[in-house]
Formats: sequence, structure tokens, C-alpha cells
Amino acid sequence: MKKTVIIGAGGVGNVVAQKCARDAETFGEIWLASRTLEKCEAIAADIKASTGVEIKTAQIDADDVGATAAFLREVGADYLLNIALPYQDLTLMEACLQAGVHYLDTANYESPENPHFEYKEQWAFQDRFKEAGLTAILGSGFDPGVTNVFCAYALKHLFSEIRTVDIIDANAGDHGLPFATNFSPEINIREITAPGRYWEKGEWQEIPALSVSTDFDFPHQEIGTKKIYLLHHEEMESLAQNLPGLERIRFWMTFSDNYINHLTVLENVGMTAIEPMTIGGVEISPLQFLQKVLPDPASLGPLTKGKTCIGCLITGTSKETGKEECKFIYNICDHQDCFAEVKSQAISYTAGVPAMIGARQLVSGAWLRPGVWNLEQLDPDPFMDDLNAWGLPWHVLEVDRELSP
Ligand SMILES: NC(=O)c1ccc[n+]([C@@H]2O[C@H](COP(=O)([O-])OP(=O)(O)OC[C@H]3O[C@@H](n4cnc5c(N)ncnc54)[C@H](OP(=O)(O)O)[C@@H]3O)[C@@H](O)[C@H]2O)c1
Repeated sequence: MKKTVIIGAGGVGNVVAQKCARDAETFGEIWLASRTLEKCEAIAADIKASTGVEIKTAQIDADDVGATAAFLREVGADYLLNIALPYQDLTLMEACLQAGVHYLDTANYESPENPHFEYKEQWAFQDRFKEAGLTAILGSGFDPGVTNVFCAYALKHLFSEIRTVDIIDANAGDHGLPFATNFSPEINIREITAPGRYWEKGEWQEIPALSVSTDFDFPHQEIGTKKIYLLHHEEMESLAQNLPGLERIRFWMTFSDNYINHLTVLENVGMTAIEPMTIGGVEISPLQFLQKVLPDPASLGPLTKGKTCIGCLITGTSKETGKEECKFIYNICDHQDCFAEVKSQAISYTAGVPAMIGARQLVSGAWLRPGVWNLEQLDPDPFMDDLNAWGLPWHVLEVDRELSP
């Protein structure tokens, strides 16, 4: 029987475990391991109550390569789904090589000390995974993840050449709290307070954080027109490299004025700083302290109402007409529907379901290809079919003009 190990029992880990359990025939024996055993046990009990499927649990420190590799060998794992934090990517890739296990994650490696991400450390594993006959899939969440697959699908079926990509991520949900982040506050705030970046004509352009914004009409009346801000996001690095002929790629996200106001005050008073300070002889990073006092993202599930919309606005030469066209490929997800299904809001749901779908391609063999891959390098078709089958249906809309500016 196949054995699948999920590491990380946070908001996204819950969704991945819930969805894998609903497809236990594919995933075989399922393990959920994390730093805190009780979190794994609570999720396992919930899965047993809602689906009847038993998953196994374990305590693990994923920063410890030797202990993790020993655990993977003991379990007899075939696949490891890294749903812990980006800090664990390198140690878990190393543990997979030592134990002979295929690897998948949802976020690009970052070191805890430096809020800067690049794929180079993970791409450096390419030869070792190839030689070991193992597959590593990088960034199988929504963005990165589904957005990469949307681009691969567009290139395979809709455009003979892609000229520009604007990835647009809207959360039009409301949790009713004064301020909270939808996933790990530390990771979220590091991402948003970093300088914005985009890629144009072969060069990276850097702008001050949140300094460029525009309005976008989302294709659902419940979302409507929203202000979107240009951010740096990890999937642009691989897409800029892997989409032939691409001239420009940017990433945009919605934030409410209330969110921006809170974040600005927190930044102004130094609460988003990563560098630890000594208080009463104890070293404390202000951002990690802030994470402790902000609401746990998992607690937002029952509170959040409204929808998310994430998609890729793509211009290029249409395969069908040979003319320049602009299309928006997107998914709309409802926070309360997600909570009713897996006790989680749409942010964790939209990240967790694609991790399970990416893992399905590994287990089925469709994406088994020794080496280290970003999603646009793999066949988009089985993944796109699974999005429709497993809760994240997608649509393609003709748009009459590309994004301005
Ligand atoms: N691609 C996308 O679209 C997307 C979107 C959202 C999130 N993500 C990624 O998804 C991942 C999970 O996010 P989340 O919101 O679920 O975060 P979270 O709620 O903070 O959960 C992280 C989990 O990782 C566990 N963990 C941390 N360090 C560990 C270690 N050394 N050993 C073992 N377990 C460890 C934590 O364990 P304890 O709770 O026991 O401490 C926690 O259960 C992150 O990498 C995030 O960047 C991707």
C-alpha cells in the first residue's frame, strides 16, 4: 500500500489531510506529523468523525534532517507533502533524499532571518533528485501553484505565444475582526512589507512596498471592483524563466483600507521588524511577538464570509484567431462553503486543495519525473481536470483590455 506523509498541522495542513482522507484509495496510508502532536490528533479525530477514515499521527521536528529521514524510513513513506513553513523546505528535501521519498511543497524556501525568497537553493537539488530517481514538486498551492498551471494551460490550449501575465489575488471575505491575517501572520506580513517587484523585458524592477495600485473589476458581483496592489510573489521567478516570449509578469493582491491602515501603524511603531531585541534578558523578534498576539488564522474559519477570486490575466496571440487577445483564467471560492466542507476558510482551502491535487499527480504517476520542477513545467491537463473534480472549478473569460497601468 502507498504511504503518504503530510508534515504541518496548521490551517493548510488541515485542508490537505482532510482532502487526502477523502481520496484514501489514492493516497493509501496517510500520516499527519507536526511539531505539536495535539494539533495532528485533533485533525485526525475530526477526519475520523466526518469521513470514517483513520489517519496516523506523529510528532516531528522538520528542522532535524536525521530524525525526519529516520521517521520517513520507519513509516516506509513514498511521498512527503511539506505543509509546514517555507523555513523547512531545504531540510525536508534533504530528508526525502536520505529516505528515498518523493517531495512536494507549497511555498518557496526562505530563511527565518532574511525575508527574501529565491528558488536557487531549491533548484540546486535538481541533479540529486534526478540521480536518485525522485521527483520534487515546488509550489503546489494556489499562488504559486494553480496560477503556474493556469499559465501552462493557456500556453498549451489558448495562446501560441504569451506576451504578458498579471496574476491577481482577491480576498473579498470579511471576518469581522479589527485586524487578522488569513494565513501565518509572520509569513504574510513579511511578504507584504517587502519591496514590490515585477519582471519586464528580461529585468527585475523594484518599487517601494505597496506603492503601485490600480482598480480591477472582478468577474463576480459579490466581489465587484477592488483596489489591487503590486507585490513581489515567488511564482514570477519560475514563470519568467519558463514561459517563452514573455515580456512582462506582475502580481497583484487586494487589501482593504482598514488592513493597510493597521499594517502601516504596526510598521511605523516597529512591530513588523524581524531582528530580535532583548527584553528582560530574553531575545524577542517583534514580528514573532506580533504573531502570538494576533488571531490564529485557523480561528477565522467560522467567522469569515464572502468570496475569493484568484486568476491570471493573460495577453498574447490567440491560437484560434491568430490575433492579440486577453483572457482571465480564474477560480472563485466561498469562505463559508469551505468551512462547511473541511472546517477551514477559503485561504487555507485554496492553498491546501492544490497541494492534494499536485500530490495526486505524483501518486498516479502523471507527474512522476525525476528532478525538481515548478508546476508550469508539467502537463497541466490532469491537474486542471482535478481542480474541477476536487472543489476549485475554473473559468476562462474574454477581457477587452489588459490591466492599466
Ligand atoms: N501557495 C499558496 O497558495 C499558499 C497559500 C497559503 C499558505 N501557503 C503555505 O502553506 C504553508 C502552511 O501555511 P499555514 O497557513 O498552514 O501555516 P500555519 O498555520 O502557521 O501552520 C504551519 C504548521 O507547520 C508546523 N511547523 C512549523 N515548524 C515546524 C517544524 N520545525 N517541524 C514540524 N512542523 C512545523 C506548525 O507546527 P505547530 O503548529 O505544531 O507549531 C504548524 O502546524 C506555509 O508554507 C505557507 O507559506 C501557501
